[in-house]
Amino acid sequence: MTNELYAVVGNPISHSKSPRIHSLFASQTGEPVEYTAIQAPLEDFSGTVRHFFERGGRGLNVTVPFKEQAWTQAEHRTPRAEKAGAANTLYLDADGALVADNTDGVGLVRDLTRNHGVALKGLRILVLGAGGAVRGVLGPILAEAPASLTIANRTVAKAEALVRLFAGEAGDTALSACGFEQAAGAFDLVINGTSASLQGDLPPVPASILAGNTVVYDMMYSLQTTTFNRWAQDNGATRVFDGLGMLVEQAAESFYVWRGVRPETAPVIDELRSD
Ligand code: ATR
Repeated sequence: MTNELYAVVGNPISHSKSPRIHSLFASQTGEPVEYTAIQAPLEDFSGTVRHFFERGGRGLNVTVPFKEQAWTQAEHRTPRAEKAGAANTLYLDADGALVADNTDGVGLVRDLTRNHGVALKGLRILVLGAGGAVRGVLGPILAEAPASLTIANRTVAKAEALVRLFAGEAGDTALSACGFEQAAGAFDLVINGTSASLQGDLPPVPASILAGNTVVYDMMYSLQTTTFNRWAQDNGATRVFDGLGMLVEQAAESFYVWRGVRPETAPVIDELRSD
C-alpha cells in the first residue's frame, strides 16, 4: 500500500514533535501515513498549503504562527474551528474544498479528563491568558460544565472580549474576566495559557489562587518542569501537569479526523516523555 502524505506546517518547525507523534500513531494503527514537517515562508503560508494539496497531500497540521491564516484560508470550518478563530488541522472534503478544524481544545480536555482523571464538571477554573491558544480551548472546557470559568489576562479587555464571545456557550457556568492581580480565592483548576514563559516571565497572579488540592496545568511543555509549574509547586501545588499530553491528544484527534481511526495515546505520551 502506498503511503498517504501528511505534514505539519509552521515557522520555525524543526523543533516540532508532530512528525514523531504521527509516525508512532501510524506504526501502532498500521495506517499508511507518511508525516513530514514543512517550514512555510512567513509571507507565503497560503501558497505552501495550496502546493501541498495540489501534489496529493491528504492533511496538514498547522502551528505557530499560521493558525489564524489557516482558519482564514479555508473554504469551510467545523463548528469547533469556527468558534476557536484558528485552525490546527486542514484537509480537503469530497468536493476538493479546504476544510479547517481545531483539535486543540478537545486535546486539552481529553488530557485532563482521561489521562489525569480530572473531571471538569462543577470545578472552579481559572484560565490565564486571552490569546489565540486560550480562545481555542474555551469551547471544549465550557462544554464540560464547570461551576465557574474565570479568564485572567494582562490586557483585561482581551479577557472581557472572550467572555462576550463565549457567553452564549456558558450555560450554567459563571463566566468572568479580570486582571492577574485581581484573581481572587482558590481555584480547583488553574490553566496557564499565556506565552509569558517564552520570555522567562510569570503571570503575576497571587499565590492564594492555589490550594493544596488545586490542579495546575501549563499548556506549554518542556523537558524540565515549566516556569509556571515550578512557581505553583513552590507555592504548595502538588498536582501539576504540562502540555505534552495535550499535544499528543490534539494529534490523535487530527489523526482520527483524517483517518477515521483513533490511536492509543498513553504509549505515545510515555515514549515522548522518555526521549
Ligand atoms: P498564543 O497563540 O500563544 O495564545 P497570543 O495570541 O499572542 O499567543 O497570546 C499570548 C498570551 O500570553 C496573551 O494572553 C498575552 O497577554 P496580552 O493579551 O496582555 O498580550 C500573554 N502574555 C504574553 N507575554 C506575557 C507576559 N510576559 N506576561 C503575562 N502575559 C503574557
